[in-house]
Amino acid sequence: MCAYKVGYFIGSLSSTSVNRILSRALINLAPPDLDFTEIPIGNLPLYSQDFDNDYPPEARALKEAIDGSDAVLFVTPEYNRSIPGALKNAIDWASRPWGRNSFDHVPAAVIGASPGQIGTAVAQQSLRAVLSFCNARQMTAPEAYIQFAPGVFTEAGEVTDDSTAAFLRDFMQEFRVHIERVLTVLPRS
Ligand code: FNR
Repeated sequence: MCAYKVGYFIGSLSSTSVNRILSRALINLAPPDLDFTEIPIGNLPLYSQDFDNDYPPEARALKEAIDGSDAVLFVTPEYNRSIPGALKNAIDWASRPWGRNSFDHVPAAVIGASPGQIGTAVAQQSLRAVLSFCNARQMTAPEAYIQFAPGVFTEAGEVTDDSTAAFLRDFMQEFRVHIERVLTVLPRS
C-alpha cells in the first residue's frame, strides 16, 4: 500500500553517477509505503522567462510530476561547491511562471554523495537556500553527507556496510515522518 508518492531528483546527468546508485539504496531502505518516481531533468532546455506564457512539453511534464507528488527528494552531487547547473535549471523551471511555484509547501529532503570527505555538504547548503526561497518544507534533520566509498554500495543499490545502511534507513524513516507532519498541516490539494 502506498501512503505517499515521492518524486525524486538526481542532480547528476552522468551515466556512472554515484548519486543515482545512492538513490537506489535509499529506495531499497525506505519504508515500504513510500512510492518513488524519478523526475527527470536531463531533457529540459535552459530556462528563460520567454517561455513563461507557453512552457515546452518537458517543462510541463516536470511541473506535473511535482504536482502529482506528495513530497520531493533531492539526491545530488556537489559541483564547484554548489549544485549542478542542470539541477538548478530544473528548479528554476519548476518555480515559475510567477505565482505557480510547484515547490510551494511541498515536503522535501536533501541528500548527496561524493567521493570526497565532505560528502556534498556545501552543495546541500546551497540547495537548501534555493529550496527555502521556493518555500519547500525541508526536513532539516537528520542531515546526510555521504562519502561514496568503493565497496560500500553495489550498482543495484545494496549497502554492504551495516552502519551506513542503518543511517540511510533512519534518514528515510525520518523523511516519512516529516512528510506526514507537513501534510497534516499543509495537505496537498
Ligand atoms: C566535481 N566534484 C566535486 N566534488 C566535491 O566534493 N566538491 C566539488 O565542489 C566538486 N566539484 C565538481 C565539479 C564538477 C564539474 C565535477 C564533474 C565534479 C567531484 C564529484 O563529487 C564526483 O565527480 C562525483 O562522482 C559526482 O557525482 P555523480 O555524478 O557521480 O553522481
